[in-house]
Amino acid sequence: MSELAGKLEDLERRFVDAAAQAVDERALDAVRVAYLGRSGEVTTLRRSIGQLPASERPDAGKVINAAVERMEQQLDRAGSQIENRVFEEELAQEIDVTFPSIEPATGSIHPVRRVLRDASAYFERHGFAVVLGPEVEPDYYNFDALNIPPTHPAREGFDSFFITNTLLLRPHTSPMQIRTMQQHQPPIAVVAPGRCYRRDAVDARHLFQFHQVEGLLVAEGIHFGHLKGMLTGLCRELFGSSQTVRFRPSYFPFTEPSAEVDTTCPKCGGSSASCNMCGGSGWIELGGSGMVHPNVLHEVGYEPERYSGWAFGFGVERLGLARYEVDDIRRFVNSDADFLAQLS
Ligand code: PHE
Repeated sequence: MSELAGKLEDLERRFVDAAAQAVDERALDAVRVAYLGRSGEVTTLRRSIGQLPASERPDAGKVINAAVERMEQQLDRAGSQIENRVFEEELAQEIDVTFPSIEPATGSIHPVRRVLRDASAYFERHGFAVVLGPEVEPDYYNFDALNIPPTHPAREGFDSFFITNTLLLRPHTSPMQIRTMQQHQPPIAVVAPGRCYRRDAVDARHLFQFHQVEGLLVAEGIHFGHLKGMLTGLCRELFGSSQTVRFRPSYFPFTEPSAEVDTTCPKCGGSSASCNMCGGSGWIELGGSGMVHPNVLHEVGYEPERYSGWAFGFGVERLGLARYEVDDIRRFVNSDADFLAQLS
């Protein structure tokens, strides 16, 4: 019996060492098989019980069983130690628990909306009020009051969607000039952003439904320099601090003199002959402008001898193309949320 106890003690000591040295589950399993398996050391020891005197056999069995129980507990402990260590290693190697989690998908502000908002904010900061008006307008506001009588060829320039003979979807935001001036006495300073409609064929630079931002300032002593100053500031706000503007003589029935407004190409700054944004010209076209025509002032009951003013109307999608360096205006409306989100 004491011989068996000695062997068992030695076996258990070796087992504890071996289990502690097992580096992974596979090594631990090999230890289990070597000691507790069907042909392992403990089984061999158990068989030797038969050689003991019959009176000692039950105790010997109990001593071995107790040792087996301790060994099994030891295996469990070693097993969970290995598990923990593997987990720690994985954490250290692959998973950075401080890494930000995946953000839930949220909407983004549409680039056209953003341009509208920023342009309006610029004018609001300079004391302008934002005014909104109807998209369905009588021809009086769209044309007549803007010095475009029924037979005037300029009506052709505004290929309009007519609802009745005299009612149409506004082809520009200029009707808001008339509505504002009829409601308020000078001095007035307003900005009128909104949707417009024209029967244009859709291509990379045209939509039949688009946005304009209209500006109007009427007071005593207003001159073209004020217009240039405000538009230069607007372009710097939208495109960057080194922008300049250029006026090209043009014609609108409701302004005199009239000018098309260009700004320095925000992409190449005028330095690239092969720029695909400005076509190498160095300039981007923003829209029309000019000094409010005396006939228009007269129409709304302002004295043209006393008051003068400027107005402009820019295409907001055009501003967006230049600001976000987008090559095709249709990308703003084809509902590619990922594309639009990346711009804002
Ligand atoms: N309404 C003009 C257009 O849509 C632009 C414009 C506005 C021109 C104000 C001059 C003054 O083409």
